[in-house]
Formats: sequence, C-alpha cells, structure tokens
Amino acid sequence: MISRRKFLAVGSLAGASVLSGNKPLGMNVDDSVFTGSPIVISTWDFGIAANAAAWQILKNKGRALDAVETGVHVPEADPNNQSVGYGGLPDRDGRVSLDACIMDEFGNCGSVAGLEHIIHPISVARKVMEKTPHVMLVGAGALQFALEQGFKKENLLTPASEKAWKEWLKTAKYNPEINVENRLFSPAKLPGNQYNHDTIGMLALDAAGNMSGACTTSGMAYKMHGRVGDSPIIGAGLYVDNEIGGATSTGVGEEVIRNVGSFLVVELMRQGYSPDEACKEAVMRIIRKKPETAKKIQVGFLALNKKGQFGGYAIQKGFSFAVCDQNDQKQLIKSPSYY
Ligand code: GLY
Repeated sequence: MISRRKFLAVGSLAGASVLSGNKPLGMNVDDSVFTGSPIVISTWDFGIAANAAAWQILKNKGRALDAVETGVHVPEADPNNQSVGYGGLPDRDGRVSLDACIMDEFGNCGSVAGLEHIIHPISVARKVMEKTPHVMLVGAGALQFALEQGFKKENLLTPASEKAWKEWLKTAKYNPEINVENRLFSPAKLPGNQYNHDTIGMLALDAAGNMSGACTTSGMAYKMHGRVGDSPIIGAGLYVDNEIGGATSTGVGEEVIRNVGSFLVVELMRQGYSPDEACKEAVMRIIRKKPETAKKIQVGFLALNKKGQFGGYAIQKGFSFAVCDQNDQKQLIKSPSYY
C-alpha cells in the first residue's frame, strides 16, 4: 500500500504522462496482490468521521459491504451536513429527496432515487439489492418499499435547511457554485441563494481482499423536483469490480452521468492506469467534451484498486478525500485538480 507522501509523488508523475497523451505508467493488474490490510476511503472532509465508523468493522475483519453501509450512516444522520441525508437541502419545492446506491464484491447492486422521509437511503438501497430482483427503486415506490421493510418515516427538513430554502425562494436563481461543499459546516455563512451539491462516496477493501462501495446524497440543492443525479446510478456515481477496484464521484452529477464516470475510472484501471491516473483521465473526458461548462463546475473522482492504492482528481481546486487504514485513521488528502 502506498503512503500518502508516495501517493502524492506518484500523482504528479502520472499527471504529466496523461497530459502528454502517452499511456501512463499504471499498475499492472496481473501484479495486483492484496497485502491483507484493509482500507477505506471517502469523499470530502466529512469522510473522516464516516471512515472511522467503517473502520470499526474493517479492523475486526468484517465485510467491506457492512463497513461502507455503516460508514455512510454517519453523514446521513448528521443534521448539520446539508448535502447528505437528514438535514439535506431540499429541492425547489421544499422536499428533501435522497439518492443512494451500494455495490458489493459479487457485482450485486441496489439503488434508490428521489427517496423522501427515510434517514438512511443507503440501507434501503442495500435492501433493494438483497430483497428484490431489481437494482433501482424510485420516488413513491422506493418509499413504499422502505416502509414495508420497517424503515421509519421521518421529516428530514431541518429548521436550518428550511430557512436556507426560504431565503433561496426570494430569488430562486439557479447558480451552482464550485465547492460550496466546503462551507457546509458553517451553515450560518450559507446564504439562501447559494446552491450546493455534494456526496459521500465510500470505497472499502476488507481483510479478505474484497471491495464494496456506497454513495449517498441529497443531491443538488433546490433541484427540480424529480431530478436524479449521478449518485444512485450504478456506473456513474459508483462502480465496483472486485477483480480491479472501485470508483465513486462527487460534484455536478449530470456531467458524471454523461460520461459514465465511475465505470470509466474502473475500466481505465483495468487497462493499467493507477487510481489517480484513471480519475484524471475521467475528469479530462468531461473537460475535453465541454471546456466552457467545465470552467464553472466541480466534479471529482475517487478510486481504490485491489492493491489498496488510491487516488483522486477533480476539475477544480478544493476537492478533498479521507483515507483510513492501519497506519492512520484520519488522513485528509487534498486532491490534485485541473484548475
Ligand atoms: N453528485 C451529486 C449530484 O449531482 O446529485
């Protein structure tokens, strides 16, 4: 497993080769040998607390699937986190609607989109995976299924998020901002006319060498009712292939969906790209297709391969990700970025 310092050095070297158009010096997947050390990584600074919860399972030789579900429960239940779960900023109609998906080491997956009133959409997604013949349930059907499975119906709109929404209604301007995620922990500083969006995407490798991933969000704030982002879309917001590795994304979901971002990152790793090189190439696809759009938006990818190597890359500065392994449970790494 690479250390943080080594990771940063490898990242800059790899960046040069991607920019030059040469095939980068990636890992050879045939050389992929798992060291037996679990690791969990997740997007943004709130990933530190989420990783800590996941680590309690991983360190006791638990399954990566249980670790990622437990880990993302932390931001989902946090009323001060206005971009995931309870306390998430609502859509333009004032409704908090949640998107989430989960994927295990066997390629099983489950997803919910536009789910209202349930604090832990990730657990509903897992039930979809395990209890139904389907992959995805949406809206009223997802809620009906969750209630049938014993989930409790709750009001997810906190007073702080309701206040922000009412402020926003005064102008109702659609103006997604870059990295407002970083201000979410100071809600008092968040004017009501700001949009924000972000996601916790988590990838874990357990002591048995198996990988799972989870991705959960309240989506873009003040979105159109019914809008679905990348986070519940298998292949866009999350993808795991237990032979190769996994990837997840954060940022403007529409651009991730258009490029099937997380699947692309995993397929690039299959071709020999290292995680950071693969994330960079996925970002570059977005930038090359829509350079003017890309100047104004944020998208970040995060990847973990079967060796326990990890990497991230974003369009804009400001993306960070949390890493937790046996050496350090609280690493927060600033992602390299195009701008
Ligand atoms: N990446 C989260 C969203 O666009 O909804």
